[in-house]
Amino acid sequence: MKGIVFTEFLDLVEEKFGLEMVDRIISSSELESEGVYTSVGTYSFSEMLQLLQHLSENTGISIDNLLLVYAEHFFSVIEKSYPGLLATYKDPIEMISSIENHIHVEVRKIYPDAELPTFEVIEKTENSLIMDYTSSRAMHHFGLGLMNKTFEHFNATATIALEKIKEDGTQVRFIIHKN
Ligand code: HEM
Repeated sequence: MKGIVFTEFLDLVEEKFGLEMVDRIISSSELESEGVYTSVGTYSFSEMLQLLQHLSENTGISIDNLLLVYAEHFFSVIEKSYPGLLATYKDPIEMISSIENHIHVEVRKIYPDAELPTFEVIEKTENSLIMDYTSSRAMHHFGLGLMNKTFEHFNATATIALEKIKEDGTQVRFIIHKN
């Protein structure tokens, strides 16, 4: 997992819960990196999982909800860092259905070692989209947060339902209806 995902995460934890919480979740985790992240580095996903688990234990907020809020923050990082990529799109359904074949393809050109999920479009109309998420990282709520913000970015709203295809969340169906 890319360093930028860690640095932005810890910035948000500091902003919402304070530096003591950052220290606490780092020191209670067993981290090969010792909690020192640079935005251009690459670190093990198990480090992110430990940080999320300890933040969840300390705040009582579920990992899914932490990932949702974090993704909504991460979207503003994307807006700032990759304005050109977003400007390619005029419509949220078009953008979300293009993650697999365009957006994450571009991401991989920038970060060849990025750990990205797979999104398969099952059904697409002008105002709806059914898409299956697959990833060993089970970060579907990170996807949900990015989708929410994608609609907001285009001044639109949507109803998004998640159906777990696999109980452990490594495969999830997103059913999206633009309002
Ligand atoms: C992960 C970039 C749009 C879904 C990532 C990562 C980057 C990235 C850098 C981390 C990879 C790693 O740490 O190795 C971008 C950029 C986007 C974009 C630049 C737009 C211009 C989206 C959208 C969605 C999405 C709209 C929602 C459907 C995900 C998910 C992950 C991820 C779920 C977590 C990894 C996993 O589940 O395996 N993306 N992304 N991305 N992205 Fe995107």
